[in-house]
Amino acid sequence: MYASGLFFLIFVPSFVLSQKTTAVHHCPSSCGGSGLSVQFPFRLNQSRCGYPRFDLSCNSQRQTILTLPLSGSFVVQNIDYAAQAIYLNDGGNCLPSRLLNFKLDGSPFRAPSRKNFTLVNCSSDAVLAARAAMPTLLEIQCMSGGDYTVMSVQSQFYGGHGSHACDEIGTVSVPLMWQFTSDLHEDVRLAWREPDCKSCLARGGTCGLRNGSGLEIACTNVPSTGLPRSAKYGIIIGLGIPALLCLIGLGGYVCGLISTYIRRRHRREETNTDFPTVIVVPRSFAMMGLDGPTIESYPKTLLSASRRLPKPSDNTCPICLCEYQPEEVLRTIPECDHYFHADCIDEWLKMNATCPLCRNTPDESTLVTPSVASRSSSLPSTST
Ligand SMILES: *[C@@H]1O[C@H](CO)[C@@H](O)[C@H](O)[C@H]1NC(C)=O
Repeated sequence: MYASGLFFLIFVPSFVLSQKTTAVHHCPSSCGGSGLSVQFPFRLNQSRCGYPRFDLSCNSQRQTILTLPLSGSFVVQNIDYAAQAIYLNDGGNCLPSRLLNFKLDGSPFRAPSRKNFTLVNCSSDAVLAARAAMPTLLEIQCMSGGDYTVMSVQSQFYGGHGSHACDEIGTVSVPLMWQFTSDLHEDVRLAWREPDCKSCLARGGTCGLRNGSGLEIACTNVPSTGLPRSAKYGIIIGLGIPALLCLIGLGGYVCGLISTYIRRRHRREETNTDFPTVIVVPRSFAMMGLDGPTIESYPKTLLSASRRLPKPSDNTCPICLCEYQPEEVLRTIPECDHYFHADCIDEWLKMNATCPLCRNTPDESTLVTPSVASRSSSLPSTST
């Protein structure tokens, strides 16, 4: 929980700081009407915000206007910054008539996919015959008058002079927005090559003029493919410190385990016996063992080299299941005469006042309960 808090504490402010160190002019703005965003390389009367000849303006209806040097002003319908394309129309007037004299000279734009159309001017009595000869003729209403109709046809389908009785107005080469449309009212799609911001925008960066006076462009705020350096530091600090604390805690725990193990091992070596390190004791008896003096009062036997036992059948300690070895110290519980390693049965009796084999209780009066600290033994001390 606090790790993530620490992470944001460190990561977020440094990330915000790195955002502010942009070294390019980049001033997005808008005419407000269509909400079309004007960004680099276009500019609205701001010299260093855009590229030369990419000037836009706003008209009284708050539309964004592009003025081409030889073809006049057009309403900008859309700008595709990633594809470097701009879509123009005539603001609902008569785009086809504008296309008759459409030249891009002097502008940074080009028309990548042009289609040629032939425009014809037909008198009322020539219209039907012309339609019959060229079924794909499309009427251009805004150019037509009461007794004549202006129509367009893709030049490849134009039948030529002999097929109709209309006047040929001319041929227009139109970069229409849609490849398969023949409607000259559709937006015109223009593109630009320079300045080239495609790869910058594709990487999620911000394109702009580099600070200074030249026309060099720079790409800033590109999100790195990995994490930003500040985020890495944030993660290292945010996760590293808690991890370190955990390691220290774990180390302490392991050290405790090891020292406990060493202590037990040491005690075992002192008495030269093997008793199990874990003795499973029923919980209800856990606090009902015998006190030290009582256990000490039970008879001990030091095994001789011949390992001769008072009861020869038992040569294995029932607690640790190890065979008795010469020189080992055994203890017997007086009530039942069962033999055990002294260390094994001592541990047992501290927690459990019954014989592990026959469950006989040595003496009820010697039980140690949590409220009673210690009692003197009532059993005779008969060590051998
Ligand atoms: C079409 O022809 C009519 C008369 O025949 C003329 O008045 C008109 O200006 C012509 N239109 C165009 C676009 O050429």
